[in-house]
Amino acid sequence: MLFRRFEGRDFAEVLQIEMEAFEDHDPYTYMNFYEMNPEGFIVAESGKTITGFVMGYRSSEQEGRIFSLAVKKEFQRKGIGQALLKVIQRHFRNRNVKYVRLEVRASNKSAQRLYNRMGFIDCWYEPGYYIDGESGIIMKKYLYPAGLHEDLMADDWSAIS
Ligand SMILES: CC(C)(COP(=O)(O)OP(=O)(O)OC[C@H]1O[C@@H](n2cnc3c(N)ncnc32)[C@H](O)[C@@H]1OP(=O)(O)O)[C@@H](O)C(=O)NCCC(=O)NCCS
Repeated sequence: MLFRRFEGRDFAEVLQIEMEAFEDHDPYTYMNFYEMNPEGFIVAESGKTITGFVMGYRSSEQEGRIFSLAVKKEFQRKGIGQALLKVIQRHFRNRNVKYVRLEVRASNKSAQRLYNRMGFIDCWYEPGYYIDGESGIIMKKYLYPAGLHEDLMADDWSAIS
């Protein structure tokens, strides 16, 4: 498994994963995100297949925000989601970001389990957060400074640090 920055040629595969993963599918968001935050758009690749992606950006001096995370259905439950989270955390940590924030649907228990296992804490519940009226849970994780706390490294991460 290789983790690298998103490139234009990945767009169709990323959109396919995104379309399968999310009901509120919006391709323009991804193009805009790439234009504004190319460094925080990371894909997982196995052979010639894009198996997942994570998008994160620095939302303030202290905070990194994970905007989107998804793994292709047939590659789920193999640790790719966890590895992508480690990669984006490392990306933030290397930029002296102090904590990471994300939002998750209240019904998305498998994603919540993954985030909790990775050390994210439920911070508050946001009623009607999503466009279809579903509530969201806001989660955060403190990032230890680089060198003090090393997560297990994802393969080939050094290529995009
Ligand atoms: C949430 C999501 C990104 C997780 O990706 P993933 O690659 O399946 O995540 P992981 O494999 O790291 O972990 C998921 C589960 O697989 C298990 N797992 C990991 N490696 C495994 C292995 N080798 N064998 C068996 N199970 C394994 C984990 O223990 C975890 O189990 P749990 O759900 O019972 O806690 C993915 O399910 C997804 O894309 N969902 C749709 C989009 C979405 O909800 N995104 C998050 C929005 S906030």
